[in-house]
Amino acid sequence: EKQGFRHYMLKEIYEQPGVVRTALEAYFNPNWHAQDNPDFSPVTLSLSPRLYEDLEHIQILACGTSWHASLIGKYLLEQLAGIPTTVDYASEFRYAPKPIIGNTLTIGVTQSGETADTIAALETEKERRANLEPKLQARLLGITNRPESTIAQLVDQIINTQAGIEIGVAATKTFVAQVMSFYFLALDLAFRRKTLPLEQIEQIITGLHQIPTQIEKTLESQANYIEELAHEFTKETEDFIFIGRGINFPIALEGALKLKEISYIHAEGYPAGEMKHGPIALLDTKVPVVAIAMPGSVYDKVLSNAQEAKARDARLIGVTSAMNAQEAAATFDDVLTVPEVEELISPILAVVPLQLLAYHIAAIKGLDVDQPRNLAKSVTVE
Ligand code: M6R
Repeated sequence: EKQGFRHYMLKEIYEQPGVVRTALEAYFNPNWHAQDNPDFSPVTLSLSPRLYEDLEHIQILACGTSWHASLIGKYLLEQLAGIPTTVDYASEFRYAPKPIIGNTLTIGVTQSGETADTIAALETEKERRANLEPKLQARLLGITNRPESTIAQLVDQIINTQAGIEIGVAATKTFVAQVMSFYFLALDLAFRRKTLPLEQIEQIITGLHQIPTQIEKTLESQANYIEELAHEFTKETEDFIFIGRGINFPIALEGALKLKEISYIHAEGYPAGEMKHGPIALLDTKVPVVAIAMPGSVYDKVLSNAQEAKARDARLIGVTSAMNAQEAAATFDDVLTVPEVEELISPILAVVPLQLLAYHIAAIKGLDVDQPRNLAKSVTVE
């Protein structure tokens, strides 16, 4: 049931505040307070000790949007829990697995739990480690929206993202739910490994609890504006570039993928600092550039990368926080705003305007948003 929405994708975008609320209720202990010096984790994932004890390395395997969520996961696991983390496309890893490292947690991230490449990559990992000494044996965790799926059966334990069934082929609410899972995992590991002061953990948790209302505010304030803006890209525009840095580089990739999938406009996501190493040659008046410029450690850098694009006459769209909107207006032709938020949790908000932009461009073009050509909801064949 579309519940009055024109497409499932739009309905699922609007379900995101609820998805985050469900996740917060499911995986945070409301009785945890830093000042009580608790000896239990704030996170209620109930991970088996075998998965996290003596962990030296995490490797994440995924495809598509789940791979983008994994890149954010890598950032969180490294920055919060201090664990070296690699992210591979499952379709690559299955034919060229990395050399075996001991005490490795392998995480398969898959909304459907049925993606053939992700299953094969995890099977490869399980088989090749099966008869090795204990520290080299596979420890497998799945992050999935389908607790009954093939992947869920294959791994030692899952994090159930509990986003509810997603029907639109373009992943939206399940992406946000996957990113939430990585906050839980990274905070749980940070607590167990004592890599963060308890106060900082609590501060991040407080920030995460504001996300549902902040997504609602973003939807309220941006929906009409973005629909209006989308009209400008439905006729002549053939290419789009998305740029971002740090924790928001994966959001540039995700914004580009959403647009490609449903609007059939060619789009690329780049780390903003890479533009001058090649892609900037593409820019002219016909190629809009979307810069994810969230306040934080790389804000000024992204802004100056965006200005370089502007100097090539590109139409510039910025995604930034409402507080920076005025300043950003000096650089960007169009400013999409989200509420003020800590950099660490900004990707979940930054993705929302990009989902809406892709959605409205495709809807105005009259395309089959929920069932784009050549795509299936889950890619169960190689
Ligand atoms: O079910 P999975 O998360 O394993 O699916 C992976 C990709 O096929 C999927 O994310 C795909 O890229 C989506 N259509 C993106 O919107």
